[in-house]
Amino acid sequence: MIDLSKLAEPGSIEESLLEKIDLKRLPRHIAIIMDGNGRWAKSRHLPRVEGHRAGITSVREAVETAARLELPVITLYAFSVENWKRPRYEIATLMMLLKEYLRKELASLMSNNIRFVPIGRVDGLDPSVVRELRYAEEQTSRNTGLLFQIALNYGGRAEIVDTVNRIMALLREREMSDAVIDESFFADHLYTANVDDPDLLIRTSGEMRVSNFLLWQIAYAEIHVNKVLWPDFRRRHLFEAIVDFQSRDRRFGGVEENDSEMFIEADENHA
Ligand code: FPP
Repeated sequence: MIDLSKLAEPGSIEESLLEKIDLKRLPRHIAIIMDGNGRWAKSRHLPRVEGHRAGITSVREAVETAARLELPVITLYAFSVENWKRPRYEIATLMMLLKEYLRKELASLMSNNIRFVPIGRVDGLDPSVVRELRYAEEQTSRNTGLLFQIALNYGGRAEIVDTVNRIMALLREREMSDAVIDESFFADHLYTANVDDPDLLIRTSGEMRVSNFLLWQIAYAEIHVNKVLWPDFRRRHLFEAIVDFQSRDRRFGGVEENDSEMFIEADENHA
């Protein structure tokens, strides 16, 4: 049972947004492209890494809110395969912040029953980071609440290529090299196997791009872009995204039932 008192103070903006949300139609998986840390820092005449540091508060708030809303899954895009092009100091600071976050946050992940899973080419990260990630993953593996996936050294195309290679190896091993696979078999071998696809994709900082994030999985996701820079992203922005999501007409390539009757009538008129 969702405890609304843990989500909004009486009389707050959050409370008025929460009243607009139908708790029975919440998204099942929210994916977030956290963008704008650098611009946030620049606007304050601070080094870029200060934007990443400030972004951690937003990470904490997004994950905690998702857990309190009892959402099944949240996935955050923290470091892409393309991010290696950034200055060495920025990469090292991001990795340091990630380790710091994991150490500080593990107790809270446990007490909130959150299962933490890194996705991406995780073993390509520095061994000290991999150790912390695997430790948090193992410690939280028996938690049954929110699944918190963090995409690290992640690329959507890389994931598809890794999946193809994984499937080819599997089929070779089973001496089934000429087998024909289908979409569901393919999805079962992605990094996100057994996880429902995101139904809501949020991007901050106003950019209208998907930036190589969960390319396969976002096929039918509703996209919500907010101009707010990631370090300023708070619970109310997540609520706004959910209100927007619930206003969408999700047809998955089909049509509304009433509309399909209209088409039949139109066809009959043509006959
Ligand atoms: C994009 O902003 C943000 C990132 C590449 C990193 C996101 C990382 C964090 C929020 C902090 C670390 C995460 C955890 C979970 C501890 P940008 O730098 O591309 O911003 P810009 O487009 O304004 O330059």
